[in-house]
Amino acid sequence: MPWMTRWPGAFPVFVAEATGGRFTDVDGIEYVDFCLGDTGAMTGHALPDVAEALHSRALRGVTTMLPNEDAIWVAEELGRRFGLPTWQFAMTATDANRFVLRFARHLTGRPKICVIDWCYHGTVDETLAIRGDDGRAVSRPGAIGPGFDPASTTRVVPFNDPVALDEALAHGDVACLLMEPALTNIGIVLPDPGYLDAVREVTRRHGVLLVIDETHTICAGPGGCTRAWGLEPDFLVIGKPIGGGMPAAAYGMSGDVAERLEDALAGDAVDVSGVGGTLAGNALALAAMRATLSSRLREDDFARMEPLAEAWTAGVRAGYEAHGLAWHVQRLGCRAEYWFCPPPRDGAMAAAAIDHELDAYMHLFALNRGILLTPFHNMALMSPFHDRSDVDRHTEIFAGAVASLVG
Ligand SMILES: Cc1ncc(COP(=O)(O)O)c(C=O)c1O
Repeated sequence: MPWMTRWPGAFPVFVAEATGGRFTDVDGIEYVDFCLGDTGAMTGHALPDVAEALHSRALRGVTTMLPNEDAIWVAEELGRRFGLPTWQFAMTATDANRFVLRFARHLTGRPKICVIDWCYHGTVDETLAIRGDDGRAVSRPGAIGPGFDPASTTRVVPFNDPVALDEALAHGDVACLLMEPALTNIGIVLPDPGYLDAVREVTRRHGVLLVIDETHTICAGPGGCTRAWGLEPDFLVIGKPIGGGMPAAAYGMSGDVAERLEDALAGDAVDVSGVGGTLAGNALALAAMRATLSSRLREDDFARMEPLAEAWTAGVRAGYEAHGLAWHVQRLGCRAEYWFCPPPRDGAMAAAAIDHELDAYMHLFALNRGILLTPFHNMALMSPFHDRSDVDRHTEIFAGAVASLVG
């Protein structure tokens, strides 16, 4: 995969093993892991309770194409966290998003979807689009082999722009708006005050379903931004960390949506609905989700992780302010990110501000001193296993990187 090979430096680090908030490479060098598999291991690596659940389940059968009781427990727990009553399972967040888009088109009878400029929701064809100069969707740079003109499936609007959203939805051909409540895939871009309320008002007014993708924004708390900020999505997607590192994802829907979907879900031709997969909802993935959600990603974890992210943020700020640089550092829960410019308000500004050479320098400087950041931008995620000394080490290394750059 490109994201395994395109790290700064001549070659990627090969991992021997990872536990908690650290990993060791094949040369025996230990690293503090602030990348955490780009959120897939936000719970920390090699959790004994998840390992035991996987082992026990693997000895009792993985794939039967029938539900088991873990599905009930996990759905109830997700319902408690995110406030949506009905859930289905997928293996990845990409798949969960694909399935939700189909449901949304089915429910509304509308052909298009709307996404935010410079979003990322996995390798979902309709979402690999950015906003072109004339406002029409064009293929995202780097997305290979597009099978169709993205403008035929997708409308793209800037983040933090409810007026542009209103205009896009007024065409009457959009089934759903798929969005992260804060952008995390082009650096962290936070919503302006009132923006998400306006999004909900505009989507409701146009009969457009709101899909919130919490795959990364679960960093904001046990119920993601949805719970932290009182959002009211029609669908919610969550993947990556909910299996404690094991591939697993889920999507929830409101009671109203579930009721309206009942016929589609119960239909005779359900095996060719275009939704799901043979291994979706397998017992191993469910065991991993149950073990993870019963003891991880909980209030007490966040109470530990968020102050660490705050300390990381303060350390970075002190590092660039000491040299009078107009850089910026942004935090969302236990995730933080620095920019070489003032805070961008939307994805296009964020994309324009990227400096690949400077990114590579900062990453490599940290990596050579035993710290891994999330690649392609300058992001750090805290796990419950990190501690203040890990953060202080980053602060020191960051200060060193800036000093040698400026000095
Ligand atoms: C917000 C969001 N949704 C979905 C995905 C896709 O996740 P996966 O690659 O595990 O399918 C990602 C991946 O980075 C993501 O950031």
